[in-house]
Amino acid sequence: MPSGVRRFALATFVTTAVALTTTIAAYAGNGGFLPGEAHSPNAHRIHSAFIFVSIFTGIILVGVEAALVMFIVKYRRGKRPRTAEGPQIHGATKLEVIWTVVPVVFLAAIGSFVFYKLPGIADAPKAAAADQTRIRISGRQYYWQFTYPNGAVSIDHLVAPADQVVHEDITAPRYDVIHSWWVPDFGGKYDAIPGRVNKTWFKAPAGTYKAQCYGLCGLQHAAMAATVTVVPRAEYDSFISQRANGGAALGQEEWQGVCMKCHRLDHRYIGPKLQGNVLLADRRGIEVLLRNGRGQMPSVGRDWSGSQIDALIAYTKQFAGGASG
Ligand code: CUA
Repeated sequence: MPSGVRRFALATFVTTAVALTTTIAAYAGNGGFLPGEAHSPNAHRIHSAFIFVSIFTGIILVGVEAALVMFIVKYRRGKRPRTAEGPQIHGATKLEVIWTVVPVVFLAAIGSFVFYKLPGIADAPKAAAADQTRIRISGRQYYWQFTYPNGAVSIDHLVAPADQVVHEDITAPRYDVIHSWWVPDFGGKYDAIPGRVNKTWFKAPAGTYKAQCYGLCGLQHAAMAATVTVVPRAEYDSFISQRANGGAALGQEEWQGVCMKCHRLDHRYIGPKLQGNVLLADRRGIEVLLRNGRGQMPSVGRDWSGSQIDALIAYTKQFAGGASG
C-alpha cells in the first residue's frame, strides 16, 4: 500500500473510533459507563454490584488489549520470510499458574460480592402492613394497566406512596404477549409474562420516574412508556379512592394510553382516523370492539370492567359528532 493511502486509512480509522466513543459519553452525560441514578434500596445494590464488577472487567479489558497491541507490534513479521516459524515453546509453569490463579481470585471476589448483595435486591425490607402496598402491573399491547388494592385502575401512569415498600406484581393477560417492566431508577427489568406473576418491589422518595417496556412486543413497543409518580401516602390514598369508580380522568387515560397508541382523531395513523366514528358514542358497539378486537386491532379491553368501558365512552362521545378537527 502506498504510504499516502496508508496514512489516510489510519487517519480515517482513528477519527471514526474517537467519534464513536465520545458520542456515547456525550449522550449519557455520565461518561456513558454508568446506569442512571438509583432511587430505591434494591437499585442501590444493583448499582454497587455494577461498579464492583466494572472494576475487574475494566482491569481485564485494559490488560488484554494492551498485551494484544504490544504483541502485534513486537512480534510482527517485518522483513522475515512468510514461511519462517517462531520458536516452539512447551510449558511455562509460572505463567500458567498466574493465568489460572488471577481469574479464580477475580471470580471469587465478584461472586462473593454479588451473593452478599443479592438478598437485599430480591427481598423487600420488612415493614408493617400499613407501610406497604401491593400494585398489579399488567403489560398489554400497547399500554400498562395498574390495579391498586381497592380495585382502582390507572393506565400508563402509576401512582405510589413515597418512602414505603411498594410490591409490584408484574404480569400480562393470558391472551397477550410478553412485555418487560423497567423503571431504570428502581433497578432491574422484570418480564411481564402472560398468565404468570413476577414479583419485585421498590421504596422510593417522592418524585417522577420514567418506565419503559423493554421486551419487543409488537408495532408500538417503543410507545409503551409510563410515568411513575411517587407522592406522600395521604395523596396516594386520596388518588386511589377517587379512582375506585372510574370517572373522566380514567377515560382520558384510556383514550391517551390505549386508543392513541394506534389512532389519531383527524387522520389515518396505524389504524383508521377516529373523528366522527359513531362507535365513540355507542356503548354496546365499542364494548364489542374492545373485547374482541377487529382485523389488526388487538382485543385491548377484553378483561376491562364495566366501569372502565363506561369511563372510556364518557370521554370519547365528544368525538363521535361531525368532522371538525
Ligand atoms: Cu410491551 Cu414492548
